[in-house]
Amino acid sequence: MAFKLFLLLSLAASRIVLAEKVGYFDDSSVCADPKGLKTCYEDADTRYASCINNNCAGGDPACYKACNGDSSCMASQCPNLGIDCINVCECIKNANEIDCMAESCWNQVYSCEYQKTGENLVNFCPKVDLEQIPFWPFPGNATGGCSCNFAKIDLKATQINNHLTTCGNDEKALEQLTADELSDYGRACICCSYSAIVSTIWDECPNTDPAVLGADYWLGQLKDGEDGEACSTYMEKFPCKKLGFGDEVAGGTDTFYTPDNLPKNGTEKLYNTGGVVSSPVSGATFTWTLGTIARAITVSSTDNVVTATATTTTGSDSSGSSQSAATETGASATSTGLAAGCEIPALAIVGPVLAIVYGL
Ligand SMILES: *[C@@H]1O[C@H](CO)[C@@H](O)[C@H](O)[C@H]1NC(C)=O
Ligand SMILES: *[C@@H]1O[C@H](CO)[C@@H](O)[C@H](O)[C@H]1NC(C)=O
Repeated sequence: MAFKLFLLLSLAASRIVLAEKVGYFDDSSVCADPKGLKTCYEDADTRYASCINNNCAGGDPACYKACNGDSSCMASQCPNLGIDCINVCECIKNANEIDCMAESCWNQVYSCEYQKTGENLVNFCPKVDLEQIPFWPFPGNATGGCSCNFAKIDLKATQINNHLTTCGNDEKALEQLTADELSDYGRACICCSYSAIVSTIWDECPNTDPAVLGADYWLGQLKDGEDGEACSTYMEKFPCKKLGFGDEVAGGTDTFYTPDNLPKNGTEKLYNTGGVVSSPVSGATFTWTLGTIARAITVSSTDNVVTATATTTTGSDSSGSSQSAATETGASATSTGLAAGCEIPALAIVGPVLAIVYGL
């Protein structure tokens, strides 16, 4: 009896070890090398702490500790560290985490969890070239891919954001406007950027619940416009296509939705569609580049084929036969999307820290 109890306990304990949360994985045992992944993430955390404490305004270990390293907490609790400095350290950490995933969780590089890891680079790295992030977005219909390739939305949002600047500085257009028209034109540029992002969310992932993709923030902006006047007013005066928001370089939006003409909402939460990636997509070694610095990846446990393939979530998904057949692995279904109102942070010179990332 005592022996049986012990056995049960040890089983329970081993189950806890297996279901270890690392990064965005609630259960990192879906990775080829979960141990390696954990060690790598811990190392990234340690380096992040020293980055903050050694580079940001003389460092503030007490604040770091009180905030448990959370960047938005540190930005509000100890503003002397400097938001740009915190972001650059966060950027380096995120790049290290991409390395961790590519090395130890190479069999999940098309997963929703990996895409979220890549998304952090967008939110924290100054002027990052998104095309540089490996496996992000993943190729169409990739084995084990996330149900929504939301990296594509991030890429387009960045293009839309860039076009907003172009729109606001379009000398040719500005020349032809009266003083009255000018402010309406400016608002139209902003409103079209909101509409383009909303449209991208609905068009890229029509089956996914848009709330999971951060749609509510952008929809709210679109409803209220810049001064409480609905965006549709300005978008009628200055059609978004005429303002260039339909151009390929601006994200290529075809139909510009307003809150009144949105397509039906998808209902699915994010999940991985299943299938086993049995060998590293980019081979046993490869490099990727962040800024100007090449980062060498050596894949670990290349022979470990993990057969737990897809994640099911608690969402109200209605399709997904692959989903019901898949092994539940307990990956998280937390929401994603560019941080609300996030623009790519302006590049501020933060000396040595920036030098580390970009090799200046
Ligand atoms: C994915 O597969 C479907 C069905 O085979 C196909 O219609 C679609 O074009 C593919 N998408 C991409 C991006 O390859
Ligand atoms: C559709 O999704 C948006 C974004 O999450 C939400 O604000 C809206 O209420 C939803 N509409 C319906 C009819 O559920």
